[in-house]
Amino acid sequence: MASELKQQATAVRERAYAPYSNFKVGAAIRGASGTVYAGCNVENAAYPQGTCAEAGAIAAMVAAGEAKLTEVYVIAGSARPVPPCGGCRQKLVEFGAGDVPVTMATTGGVEEKTTLADLLPGAFDAAFLGE
Ligand code: THU
Repeated sequence: MASELKQQATAVRERAYAPYSNFKVGAAIRGASGTVYAGCNVENAAYPQGTCAEAGAIAAMVAAGEAKLTEVYVIAGSARPVPPCGGCRQKLVEFGAGDVPVTMATTGGVEEKTTLADLLPGAFDAAFLGE
């Protein structure tokens, strides 16, 4: 259920480590098994070493033995729903089909829905490696 993703993304966002940006993000993804995996952004004093919420959720999914996702939910405390950054779009596409629904949300209750294909048209993926 979508509300399960919302609940987990909202909860994990509270645990984000974002002392530099003060911008906490929570992400939840559903693996093909139905299990939900959550992740938050983890920043670092060496700024480029910080990781996004989506990357954390993907790492949790892969660590649990899954490599396919069917649903994505991202939440932040911004006025407008936050779209995954470019790098995270590529990371998500590695594990999800183009029609995977992505919900972007604000803690204030605004939600916007899109898909992986709309977020990253013309994506480079593993298929090109075999051509
Ligand atoms: N951030 C995410 O975790 N996910 C996004 O989709 C957008 C940005 C994080 C990275 C950094 O810790 C903070 O938000 C500000 O850019």
